[in-house]
Amino acid sequence: MAQPTGQLDTVMHENRIFPPPAEFSRRARIKSMDEYQRLWDEAAADPAAFWATMAREELHWFQPFSTALAWNEPFAKWFVGGTTNASYNCLDKHVAEGRGDRIAFLWEGEPGDARTLTYAELLKQVCKFANVLKSLGVERGDVVSIYMPLTPELAIAMLACARIGAVHSVIFAGFSAEAIADRNNDAKAKIQITADAGYRRGQVLPLKNTVDEALAKSLTVEKCIVLDRVNEAIHMERGRDFWWHELMAQASEDCPAEPLDSENTLFILYTSGSTGKPKGIRHTTAGYNLFVKKTFEWVFDYRDEDVFWCTADCGWVTGHSYVVYGPLSAGATVVLYEGAPNYPHEGRFWEIVEKYKVTIFYTAPTAIRAFMKWGDEHAEKHDLSSLRLLGTVGEGINPEAWMWYHRVIGRERCPIVDTWWQTETGGIMMSPLPGATPTKPGSCTKPLPGVIPQIVDSQGGEVDVHHGGWLTIAHPWPGMLRGIWGDDERYKETYWSKVPGKYLAGDNARRDEDGYYWIMGRIDDVLNVSGHRLSTIEIESALVSHPHVAEAAAVGRPDELKGEAVAVFVTLRGARPSEALRSELVKHVRNQIGALAQPDDVRFTNALPKTRSGKIMRRLLKDIASGKETVGDTTTLEDYSVLARLRSEDE
Ligand code: WTA
Repeated sequence: MAQPTGQLDTVMHENRIFPPPAEFSRRARIKSMDEYQRLWDEAAADPAAFWATMAREELHWFQPFSTALAWNEPFAKWFVGGTTNASYNCLDKHVAEGRGDRIAFLWEGEPGDARTLTYAELLKQVCKFANVLKSLGVERGDVVSIYMPLTPELAIAMLACARIGAVHSVIFAGFSAEAIADRNNDAKAKIQITADAGYRRGQVLPLKNTVDEALAKSLTVEKCIVLDRVNEAIHMERGRDFWWHELMAQASEDCPAEPLDSENTLFILYTSGSTGKPKGIRHTTAGYNLFVKKTFEWVFDYRDEDVFWCTADCGWVTGHSYVVYGPLSAGATVVLYEGAPNYPHEGRFWEIVEKYKVTIFYTAPTAIRAFMKWGDEHAEKHDLSSLRLLGTVGEGINPEAWMWYHRVIGRERCPIVDTWWQTETGGIMMSPLPGATPTKPGSCTKPLPGVIPQIVDSQGGEVDVHHGGWLTIAHPWPGMLRGIWGDDERYKETYWSKVPGKYLAGDNARRDEDGYYWIMGRIDDVLNVSGHRLSTIEIESALVSHPHVAEAAAVGRPDELKGEAVAVFVTLRGARPSEALRSELVKHVRNQIGALAQPDDVRFTNALPKTRSGKIMRRLLKDIASGKETVGDTTTLEDYSVLARLRSEDE
């Protein structure tokens, strides 16, 4: 057995490379690798000074900061002594500069209703709602819990909190009453905001009923504001529950943004991580705001004429950073879509791209694999010629899924930015710059300026080229989490205890001879086969490169001889499960990446279990593969996602 050095073996061979189209580079913000390298080197030489210059230029300061970075490991303070306001930077700044008539949100509801809001209108709504919050007793530092469908009002609620220094905690509107109550109690939330109901895949989700149940167990929540989205008959508790529209009808439009300390908490966002109880990841005002603005502009090469669509819900960090704070700080026009990608048909996303002439499209690998499975014809029916750039986030993208995205959606014209980051990092850390970086399918390529990653072994030493190890970040950055809400010890233990002085991301990664980074999956998911530590994504990508495989998950199963044997769970496209296909897949993996990674156990399934945000739940599959979790006859076709739904709420 291998020593637990933290190192991994790589078995992947991906040699395709796609230079940025010349026409794209010509007009891009960052046009070449030389330009990128100069910027990165400048930032690395003195990250604090680099970010300080940016902060002065990019944010509005009521009072300038005195110190760029105060680092008392592992606690960072950025732009100390300054006061600013994220709502001001997202709204007032543009209106003051004469851009109030620009469109901020192009919103489409699932049933097909639509609304457009300009920056000036959005500002007005945010001011009014901020006054509503104040009228209900919300003060600076109070936590506001938001459980809403993806409507403009969700963003309005977030920005109104930011305006008065209240802390928002957005909870994805698919979570249960129990999950809401746990989060509300941990955060000591004072106010709840919700809607009567929401639409999802043609169904009406009874959000307020769920909230009623949650509030019965939420000890600190005093009042609840309810948006009338669906016109459902619901229970309104006198003295506790208030209609959004009734409160707004009386609210004044006058609510200047409060000058807030750079380190004022902007939001907390709960994430489950790999173990146990969800943690409230805490982000603050100035550093986060700067980081999401700059990363948005760099990675998406944002220009004034762009129409940007990030398909994430605001219940996830991607929605915070690249639906709300990043794009709005940059004055972008953002598409918001409330519903499911396959309602009322599997081409809904492409219909929306065509309708709003979306130029930049940012989604998750789980969605891309679903599109692949549904077939090319849905995208082919629509005019996607407005698209100029594609992005992905949330999991590693299998090279074949990347190729599909490139070919069928990007029509071989659009660069793809595979962005690696986390709830904890606040914004994108590694990604191609689309006008500069030649891309390799499956690699998030290089760190952004001001981001200094290092791949280390368990002793903290840097590993060699092509060796997998723990991904760490060697220097604080403005968008980093400031802690876990109410639990400094857990913050230190989780991110700062195993590798001294560096942020431990919890992912494995390797670097190739060109200095490109390849994320290899979560540290906890590594397989240990005959003394070789293998990454999940490499085996999965080998499977997905077979024309009949839509999705795959690889896990280790205890094995007397090898330590662990490889077990894989596979969903198919255009084929039925059979013994012949099973042996063909085993052979395919052997041919692609070698006998070592060859699966001993191949199981077909209709669907893989996923977290609410679409990540494959490998731990659950590992239990199934090792017989800890019984699900009947596991050699036949199953829908393991049902099991995931029965299981944990907190994933
Ligand atoms: C994974 C989402 C490979 C990774 C913004 C990370 C990725 C976790 C990528 C964070 C990517 C995200 N390639 N893996 N491009 N992007 N991940 O907190 O394991 O929901 O640690 O933040 O997703 O997930 P989170």
